[in-house]
Parts: sequence; C-alpha cells; structure tokens
Amino acid sequence: MAHDWRKLTEPISQHFEETLKAKKKKAASGVREELELAAKKVMKNAHAPYSNFHVGAAILLTNGKIVTGCNVENASYGMTNCAERTAIFSAVAQLGPKIEIKAVAVTNDHGVACSPCGACRQVIFEFGPNATIYFQSASGPKQAHITELLPEGFRLK
Ligand code: THU
Repeated sequence: MAHDWRKLTEPISQHFEETLKAKKKKAASGVREELELAAKKVMKNAHAPYSNFHVGAAILLTNGKIVTGCNVENASYGMTNCAERTAIFSAVAQLGPKIEIKAVAVTNDHGVACSPCGACRQVIFEFGPNATIYFQSASGPKQAHITELLPEGFRLK
C-alpha cells in the first residue's frame, strides 16, 4: 500500500511550527516584561521638576545587554534629554558605537500613552534600524517596528 507521507508528516510539522511560534511569543513577552521592569526602576532617577512626568527607558542590545536611561530636564526646557536618548547615549558611552539595539521599552509614572518622540525615533533608528519598540498607546500596550514609527528614517551609511 502506498503511503502519502505528506498527509502523515504535515500535522506533525504544523504542530512543531505552532509550538515554535508559541515559544517565540512567550520569549518576546518575557523580554518586554524584563525591559519594562528595568525601565520602571530607572524612571525613579528622572530629573523632571518642570513637567513632573518621569520617564524610564530600557534598551536591549543584540549582545544581550540591557542599558537604561531616564529623562533629564533643564531650566532651559529645550535642553531636556528624553529617557530613550539617555539610555542610548549611556550605551554608547559604556560599550562604544558598534552597539545594535534590538528592542526598546518606555514607561512613565502617569500610566499614560507615551511613545518615543520624533528626535528619539531618529536616534533609535541610527543604532537599531530593526528595533522593536514597546510602549503604551492610547488603546493599551503596543509594539511597533522602528520603521513604522519612523518611515524613511535618515541615514548617511
Ligand atoms: N519624555 C521622555 O523622556 N520620553 C518620551 O518618550 C516622551 C517624553 C520626557 C521629556 C520631558 O522630560 C517629559 O517627558 C515631558 O515631555
């Protein structure tokens, strides 16, 4: 009797594909949780006497390291540095310019919607053209690829 092996093996390979997908999803939600925890911790160091809006950011690098940052405001308001850029600049200062950002999480102490500002999107893109951003949107937790947040980001090389 001739067997149609595909009929036999398809459900098995489908099962493994689904298991792999579920595992990847679980790992991704673990990454989000870990980054959010780190972002919440560093948020406490924010210098935000003008806005009273404390922000924390955590970036995951492709080498597995997590670097954090908070917003640092200034009496000359425009000199303010957002949490995301603080984290990225700290990472470069600690590890050099060859870092690559895999993911970014942003949190704030008001529990309101807050995605990276335009300037931070451009800086994230410089070091993470393939980065995933985890943030609070108006409709709840969201994740987006950096190119969704910053279409046609500028690059010199
Ligand atoms: N801020 C951040 O640090 N990250 C964001 O994604 C949005 C805004 C800071 C800048 C300023 O210190 C305060 O939040 C209010 O705009």
